[in-house]
Amino acid sequence: MKNYDLKQEQTLVIVKPDGVQRDLVGEVIKRYEQCGLKLVGLKMVIPTKDMALKHYSIDPEWAIKSGTKTFESYKAKGLPLPGKDPVEFAEGIRRKLPDFMSSGPVVSMVWQGMGAVSIVRKITGSTEPLTSLPGTIRGDYTIDSYTAADTDSRAVRNIIHSSGSVDEANKEIAIWFDKKEILSYRLVSEEIIYDVNLDGILE
Ligand code: TYD
Repeated sequence: MKNYDLKQEQTLVIVKPDGVQRDLVGEVIKRYEQCGLKLVGLKMVIPTKDMALKHYSIDPEWAIKSGTKTFESYKAKGLPLPGKDPVEFAEGIRRKLPDFMSSGPVVSMVWQGMGAVSIVRKITGSTEPLTSLPGTIRGDYTIDSYTAADTDSRAVRNIIHSSGSVDEANKEIAIWFDKKEILSYRLVSEEIIYDVNLDGILE
């Protein structure tokens, strides 16, 4: 990670169709904006199913990680497991995600700043809204659960997608944005967030 500038880290955020329909685009932008991150790319699109599938096929470990997460959540609640094999179960979810993501407009964004990937994940909250903490976007603005989604055989509606790692972010940004759509500019607020000296505040 030599020469890696944490301050320039970028991450992808997508306000999913449920977030757009719930009129939460402004609120979501406000949350990331107010923490000090910089918006460097923004667009509204209706994703194709292919785009959504490509997006959810980036991480070869995704099915094992997501399936395990769901199974652990069922166990923690003392509920019978939703299937025999977590990977097989997650592959079923992956087949449902393109229908959800392509059901209407989404707003995709690139946010940049110090540790943007982790900062955005923290503000977004954990995957299942039922257990996402208050104060996070998923915890504050929605109430879906794995069990409700699984009973209805659909993907969890949790308002936001945000990249899980820097590597994932770079690959995801390349799916949703052309290089020329990502802007390079300086915000006045970056001086107070990052600059070593604070000369110029006092007159
Ligand atoms: P995942 O990448 O595990 O979560 P996150 O979005 O928090 O990084 O899963 C991708 C999406 O798949 C998730 O946002 C909602 C949906 N999903 C389900 O519908 N059911 C599930 O059991 C899981 C784990 C995810």
